[in-house]
Amino acid sequence: VPSIDLLGYPIVVESGCLARLGSLVGACASAHRYAVVTDDNVAPRYLAPVRDALISASPRATSSDHVQTVVIPPGEEHKTREQWAAITDALLATGCGRDTTIVAVGGGVVGDLAGFVAATYMRGIPVVQVPTTLLAMVDASVGGKTAVDTPAGKNTVGAFHPPAMVVIDPATLATLPPRELRAGFAEVIKHGVIANADEIDAVVHLAPRVLDGIEVPTVLEPLIERSVRIKANVVAADEREQGLRKVLNFGHTIGHGVEAASDYTLLHGEAIAIGMVAESRLAEQAEIAEPGTASAIERVLGDVGLPTRIPREISVDRIFAAMRSDKKQRRGALEYALPKRVGEMAGESTGWGIPINDALAKSVLEELR
Ligand SMILES: NC(=O)c1ccc[n+]([C@@H]2O[C@H](COP(=O)([O-])OP(=O)(O)OC[C@H]3O[C@@H](n4cnc5c(N)ncnc54)[C@H](O)[C@@H]3O)[C@@H](O)[C@H]2O)c1
Ligand SMILES: [Zn+2]
Repeated sequence: VPSIDLLGYPIVVESGCLARLGSLVGACASAHRYAVVTDDNVAPRYLAPVRDALISASPRATSSDHVQTVVIPPGEEHKTREQWAAITDALLATGCGRDTTIVAVGGGVVGDLAGFVAATYMRGIPVVQVPTTLLAMVDASVGGKTAVDTPAGKNTVGAFHPPAMVVIDPATLATLPPRELRAGFAEVIKHGVIANADEIDAVVHLAPRVLDGIEVPTVLEPLIERSVRIKANVVAADEREQGLRKVLNFGHTIGHGVEAASDYTLLHGEAIAIGMVAESRLAEQAEIAEPGTASAIERVLGDVGLPTRIPREISVDRIFAAMRSDKKQRRGALEYALPKRVGEMAGESTGWGIPINDALAKSVLEELR
């Protein structure tokens, strides 16, 4: 199987590969039992083929009791310790032991939650990530971060637990709501800004055609493959986020603040789009980015139909309060991952996090409202 092999686990990107999930998993993450974790939106569409593939690849193909299924309610509000408990209870009730591999089929919520279950169940069992949103394909499923949210904040309880394998079938994007698909392009654009300006052109060319239904999502396969490679290369250099991995936070210091201040009415990718516009302007005004960088990024996001302005009802003070409540940003000047130009990040000498005083950041945010 041709796969991306940069992180010690294979990442397969191939349209239609869900039908071969059994043999793919059998080759790279074989287990006595599989526990498929998915959500109520994904289950009606993809659970049957996933189960069939896992059952038919088993040596005991006549019995299906070695493939368990746990279906959770969809949405970020269910990425909780309560759902972690519900899933582990279900696994315990069906007698899943250390010989079980979890197969997470869904978006980043399912991946993060099922990944955290895998990190902790019986002190850790393997997980195969099968992302079905664009965001999860190019971002959440790769890199080994797992977590749940708590009232104190997003991803506040979690673990590093790299998957045994990642299986990406771009054909599953055909059923994803367009708003979710568009939001996923924000992270693809982010990867382009971080590491390869040519990717930006590819997104501008393809994203509107797919969003308008002129092309089917499987045309995105090469784009997804390259985007995953960019993330995997960064993670390979810095799995535990000591340095370089911080570049993946481009757009996220402000983006997370905007996302929280919108009470999560903005999707993550939408908030990150606004965050990238704001942070690239910040980079220019701080004379870190080449002139023209911010307008180029803003144009691309606009071309894809992503928001580039802060909704008027969200105040700059609320955004800042949310940014300050981030666990890593309590003290001192807020730090940002900022571009030097499209395709290259600044900040190597300061460990890729660049402190910027609040006054400058606030003026940029006011400009964007
Ligand atoms: N671990 C990481 O490194 C990492 C990185 C980025 C984001 N994340 C996490 O990912 C989460 C966001 O993930 P997301 O954007 O995938 O959201 P999501 O998991 O909530 O999925 C979005 C929606 O699409 C539905 N859906 C999923 N696949 C579908 C399909 N193929 N067809 C139809 N509907 C489908 C889901 O049920 C959900 O309603 C956040 O919790 C975020 O913290 C984690
Ligand atoms: Zn993100």
